[in-house]
Amino acid sequence: MKVVTVVGARPQFIKMAPVSRELRKYFDEIIVHTGQHYDYEMDRIFFEELSIPEPDYHLGVGSGSHGYQTGEMLKKIEEVLIKEKPDLVLVYGDTNSTLAGALAAVKLHIKVAHVEAGLRSFDKRMPEEVNRVLTDHVSDYLFAPTETAVENLYNEGIRKGVYLTGDVMYDALLSNIKIAQKKSRILEELGLKSKKYLLATVHRAENTDNRKNLENIIEAFIESNELIVFPAHPRTQKYLKAYNLIEKVKKAENILLINPVGYLDMLVLEENARKILTDSGGVQKEAYFLKVPCITLREKTEWVETVEDGWNILVGADKEKIIKAIRQFEPAGETYTYKFGNGKASKKIVKILI
Ligand code: UD1
Ligand code: UDP
Repeated sequence: MKVVTVVGARPQFIKMAPVSRELRKYFDEIIVHTGQHYDYEMDRIFFEELSIPEPDYHLGVGSGSHGYQTGEMLKKIEEVLIKEKPDLVLVYGDTNSTLAGALAAVKLHIKVAHVEAGLRSFDKRMPEEVNRVLTDHVSDYLFAPTETAVENLYNEGIRKGVYLTGDVMYDALLSNIKIAQKKSRILEELGLKSKKYLLATVHRAENTDNRKNLENIIEAFIESNELIVFPAHPRTQKYLKAYNLIEKVKKAENILLINPVGYLDMLVLEENARKILTDSGGVQKEAYFLKVPCITLREKTEWVETVEDGWNILVGADKEKIIKAIRQFEPAGETYTYKFGNGKASKKIVKILI
């Protein structure tokens, strides 16, 4: 069987790594990189660190508006699919690359498998929510990471082809955490001591493209007076400059603004942080897996288990709530990582495909 894997953005490289390794034992895999992310630290570094095979096709789509970006991908993925005639197209998560891959395939009557199916924020203003709802509704195999995801699909009438597999990001973390602890020098490089700093990431459109929200978040970081390590996504760096906030951040003695880091450094930064502030989906989960309290800079989350179990708190872009959570939020009890599988989701997915 021939499988075309379509990826393009940072979290997709991390998600595909364990699946691709397993998939290649049984199938021919063709990797299509849409080019949605392209800076070294958003792209290449993950292929190098995680030994992901070189993409067979690089579409070089790059940045742009949603319509432009998704449209260019759709056109170019279709060309590849017509040429390669795969039996299946595999897509991950909820980015524009996910939707373009799924749509190109279904229109050519090629089966679609969606890894991380069934996640919902129930907020259609999020581009990711639109991408995942549409992708799920055209998929033949829906690999749901959690029971909540299975329920969400069920509630939308999707019952055929749904499999509870566990989360491939948990697989990735388990197989890389020891390597990260051994290889990463990031704490030394940045002069950090374990549990003496907070870690922050921000990149969601609702926070970056909204001046007030980004300003609130930055002011909360500064006023908290805690040492905050902030590996900023290029989108966030762009808006910090556009809103003239960059100087304020650079001047703040308690904020350590750095470029995005690789996966191994990120795992070490996460594990050693006292708390994590983020609007990232993946980082919320990793905080939970690593037992680090998470303050989520959003009103809603798809990863409800992390909130229900008391390890994650939703504060939006509300300055006072962020500061209060930084000072006071403490987890209530245990983490139950089995809710995200047993670290063998990739094997389960490939077994189902076989
Ligand atoms: C995308 C996904 C989001 C995911 C995130 C992971 C969509 C709609 N959004 O958001 O779901 O959580 O990736 O990180 O697909 N840029 C660079 N260099 C890069 C990549 C981006 O400078 O390598 C800048 C460009 O100015 C670009 C902006 O970041 O316009 C946004 O990039 P884009 O891929 O459109 O969305 P993300 O915010 O990265
Ligand atoms: N990540 C990374 N370096 C960074 C920030 C994040 O390696 O500087 C990793 C993080 O550990 C997680 C993934 O990227 O595995 C999350 O991706 P992102 O936050 O870009 O997107 P989301 O999960 O919100 O879609």
